[in-house]
Amino acid sequence: MGKKKDKKGESATSGPAEGNDVEAQDSSPTESTLPQVPATGSGSFEVTAEPTPPESIHSARSDPKTIRTPPRGPRPPRGTSHDRTPRSSWEHRGRGPLKVIVAAVLLVAVAGIVMEFTMFCSPYRAIYGTCDPLRKTTMARPIEVVVTGAGGKTGGHVFRKMLASPETFAPLGIVRTYASKVALVAATGASNSQVTVIDLAGPYGRTALTSVLAGYKALVIGTSAKVKPTGGTDPVTKRPMLGFPDGQPYMVDWLGQRQQIDAAKAAGVPHVVICSSMGGTNATHMLNSFGREARSMKSRGMLWWKKRSVKYSVGGGILWWKRKAEKYLVDSGIDYTIVHPGGLLDESGGRRSLLVGVDDKLMEGPARTIPREDVAEILLQSVLHKEFRNLSFDLVSRPDSGAKVATDYVELLQSLQGASNDYSLGVIPDHDAEIVEAEAEYATVQ
Ligand SMILES: NC(=O)c1ccc[n+]([C@@H]2O[C@H](COP(=O)([O-])OP(=O)(O)OC[C@H]3O[C@@H](n4cnc5c(N)ncnc54)[C@H](OP(=O)(O)O)[C@@H]3O)[C@@H](O)[C@H]2O)c1
Repeated sequence: MGKKKDKKGESATSGPAEGNDVEAQDSSPTESTLPQVPATGSGSFEVTAEPTPPESIHSARSDPKTIRTPPRGPRPPRGTSHDRTPRSSWEHRGRGPLKVIVAAVLLVAVAGIVMEFTMFCSPYRAIYGTCDPLRKTTMARPIEVVVTGAGGKTGGHVFRKMLASPETFAPLGIVRTYASKVALVAATGASNSQVTVIDLAGPYGRTALTSVLAGYKALVIGTSAKVKPTGGTDPVTKRPMLGFPDGQPYMVDWLGQRQQIDAAKAAGVPHVVICSSMGGTNATHMLNSFGREARSMKSRGMLWWKKRSVKYSVGGGILWWKRKAEKYLVDSGIDYTIVHPGGLLDESGGRRSLLVGVDDKLMEGPARTIPREDVAEILLQSVLHKEFRNLSFDLVSRPDSGAKVATDYVELLQSLQGASNDYSLGVIPDHDAEIVEAEAEYATVQ
């Protein structure tokens, strides 16, 4: 007991007091507890406290409260190098360095995140193909699209437009011949790898396209049979004979498109867009007569010894076969967009306001034509906007009035009020007709 009391007394005389007594001693220091601090004329002073015995030092250091308690003594004049005024709040100020370290760490972390998104932005670039997280929906990785008939007029516009927006589209053009490929590469500046040659109506069309389509997000079908003069004059109309020397509609617009739809399905392409034509609700539309030839053949009837002449027609029927392919797509389960343009014009796009409708009703109005470039723009927009999915609609344009035209293509669809072309109208060749056409086609190539 006696030893404990001695220690207490010694530590009190040497400066630090026991924690419980700190407040009392601070507020009323006595002569006996204060170290001797002689004032100097210059304002400086020296601490002349008596040296503390070793035992007392040990005692003070072992007591944390004692260690934190500042030494007692009169405060030196403010502004001197020995001004220890803040010492009264020393314990509080002890957290200061910790706060500085925490703030510095936070600052470095925030700066790192900002730099990550502005300079390096690897996570967003990896996921969205852009450094700008706010524009990730519009500036996402380019949409990989295959455009067939890219060597044709409308398909060519689609391909060119997509090439011109590399942040949005990564197009691959499909053409039928090497000559078309050379011409397309030269005309568009596309690389050789951006154009592929496939005869889509040929025997390997489906297999070849399936292997190409893997990983693509959309297929835009721009192929079509092309009506051309075949030489000679029609004896009835006295007009040049027209036909499909590069492939009948049955082959190109039905079998060729069916191969493309099958390939898209096999490759897992989620969206197929077809550029087709208005007029399909009218089975006797003039376009169906192009390339249609009257034939006759001798056949034996019930009276086998008597031959009779059977008359029939082959070829043509372009709108029938297009419509059959469209219905095939609608029933395929793949998301689709089918555009039926009116008469196509080789004029600049973006100058006419566009109109949409269904079931050829627009043909009753004054506006029945549309520039190919405008059709191409709608085909492209249909890849971009989900509102175009699972719709089949007609498309024409008003005459160029010089006024600024609307470019909100999703808004354009509002006038459809949810309607889509009705495939119960018009003619879709049935299975028997298909066989007849196929046989006729076969006969023509013999
Ligand atoms: N003309 C009009 O007024 C009008 C009106 C309404 C709708 N449409 C329709 O609109 C669409 C676009 O017409 P467009 O005149 O712009 O087209 P287009 O210039 O005739 O282009 C058709 C493309 O299909 C390609 N093609 C044909 N058979 C192929 C095959 N077996 N394999 C691969 N490619 C093949 C052609 O290639 P090649 O060049 O190698 O032959 C050609 O590039 C067509 O469906 C058309 O029927 C036209």
